[in-house]
This record gives sequence, C-alpha cells and structure tokens, in this order.
Amino acid sequence: MSTNPNPIIIAHRGASGYLPEHTLAAKALAHAMGANYLEQDVVLSRDGTPIVLHDIHLDSTTDVAQRFPGRARKDGRFYAIDFDLDEIRQLRVHERTHLDAAHQGNAVYPQRFPAEHALFSVPTLLEEITMLAGLDRSRGCQTGVYIELKSPLWHRCEGLDLPAAIIEVLEQTGYRDRPDQVFLQCFDDQTLQQLSRELKAKPLPMIQLIGENGWGEDSAVDYDYLRTPAGLDYVAGYAQGIGPFIPHIYHGMTPTGEPQLSALVEQAQTRGLQVHPYTFRRDELPAGIESFEQLLDIFIRQAGVDGLFTDFPDLVVDYLDKLHQSGTN
Ligand code: G3P
Ligand code: CA
Repeated sequence: MSTNPNPIIIAHRGASGYLPEHTLAAKALAHAMGANYLEQDVVLSRDGTPIVLHDIHLDSTTDVAQRFPGRARKDGRFYAIDFDLDEIRQLRVHERTHLDAAHQGNAVYPQRFPAEHALFSVPTLLEEITMLAGLDRSRGCQTGVYIELKSPLWHRCEGLDLPAAIIEVLEQTGYRDRPDQVFLQCFDDQTLQQLSRELKAKPLPMIQLIGENGWGEDSAVDYDYLRTPAGLDYVAGYAQGIGPFIPHIYHGMTPTGEPQLSALVEQAQTRGLQVHPYTFRRDELPAGIESFEQLLDIFIRQAGVDGLFTDFPDLVVDYLDKLHQSGTN
C-alpha cells in the first residue's frame, strides 16, 4: 500500500468544527483554509428547491420549533419538505443540538461554536455554489463541490425528484461541465446507477457511501456486501470511489500499539476506486487514537487513502504541509 502524498481535503459540512454546519460562513472559512472540496448535503424544500442541510428534518440545527410551532408531523419532527423556501429563509441556524429529552438543547460538540448564537441561515445549493465560484475567482484558486444526495428514495415517495433538481443547479452554475470540480455521493446504489446512466454522455464522478446496515439509511443495499471483493467489483461498475466509515478501515490498536487496518483501501484501489473515508474530527477520536495528527498519519501514511472528509480542514492542511516539508511521504 503506497502513501498518497496529496489526498484531497473535503470540508465536511464546511469548516464545521468552527462554525455551525452547512452555513455559508462555515463554507467560506473552509475555502480560506485551503480545502480542496466543500461538502454539500442536499435535501428539497416543499417547492422543490435544493437546500444545503444534513437532515431531512430542520429541528436539530434551526429554530423551526419556535418560529413555526404546530408544523411538526405526527412523529414530532419538522421536515424541510413541509416548508417553502421563503419559510426556510426565516429560520436561524445554530450548532447541532440534541433533541432527546435528557439532553435537549445541548450541543452535540460542546467545545465548538456556542449553540445559543443562532446567527446564520439555511443556504440554497445555488447560493452556496455561487459563493464558492466567487471565492474561487477572488482568491484565484479552484475548489470543488462534493454533493451528497440525501434520502433520494424518501424524496421520491414525497413526490419530488432530488437527483434531477441537483443536476439542474449544476447546469445553471456551469458545474455540469466541470467533472474535475464535482463529486456526487450517495448512500443509495440505485440512485448512483441511475445518475451514471443519465449522465453517461458527460459523466461526473460518483462516490458510493458505505454506512452500517443498522443506520436506517434510505437504501436497500447491503453495506457489508459492498465492502467485500465482490461488492467492490459491483461498485466499480458505476462509481469512481467509495466513502467508507472510519471503522471500516481502522479496527483499533494492537496491544503493542500498532494500528489494525482492514484490506478495504487496497481492495478498492486495486479496482480503480478512490477511497474517501469519513469523518475526521479532532473532538471525536476513534478508540486507541491519542491525537488528530496520529489519526491522520494512520489513514494517510499507512492506509494510503485518496481523500478524507473532515470538520477541521485547516488541521489537515497543516499536517500535509509538515509531511511535505519532512520529505517522509
Ligand atoms: O458524506 C460523507 C459523510 O458526510 C457521510 O455522513 O452523515 O455526515 O452525511 P454524514
Ligand atoms: Ca454527507
């Protein structure tokens, strides 16, 4: 397994370790920090506008419950798809908070931006890409978009076509013609296969996200199977890479302090698939890892990944700078 000295840095929900996720502020900060790609999780509003939001719900990251009481569904949740864009624009975004009774209102990551400062709004995908392109011009650089189609099957059941709405924004902004600046990612294999067919004449790179079967993702695919050699052969038929969960690669430390790594990276790369694991967080280190730098070292120098999703893009930039200066890559 060889080290890739220049893995791509994907700002996970922006520089979300410092500012509330998926706000334009978090994206601008990630851009300035030197991320290669900014991640957008995308869902649709009631009127079919692609908005940048991680959940199909609005209540973990906005003040929707205060502004629109009585608009929750029977399960008590406030769904983005039940609100028109002009209503979503009225919401204030804050740090992600817990919803369960025991921790309600508490920040998921207590050391991050203060959860009581709801200073931000929910951007549309069009607004975010427009800002990114503007920053690319004013800063003289090229930064890609890394778009996740969130719950496409659920959207279809609700009567809306998420993939089509996203592709329309890429057409509108010119990114449909920039395959070197776009990745499309999804947990659902069928959605990626459909996109791969539809975009065949002018392809965009696709990443098959791999989760855990117990997460209840919006897909019938078996993620355990996708991580097998046969499953990777299957993915290589329609995607250019995989986005695995950190524990799919790192299995902990041996008693003598050696990282135990799966064969997934090598098996994927052998099939021509890039490997972009998620999510690298300074404030959520896997068991046995003592520092963020150690975590990066294991994945970049030992596992040899092609890119990684991180809430802290500046720390990955610093790590890679040091690696290049030391000449040990
Ligand atoms: O898209 C890669 C990673 O972001 C998947 O997890 O839940 O943060 O979207 P999630
Ligand atoms: Ca994502």
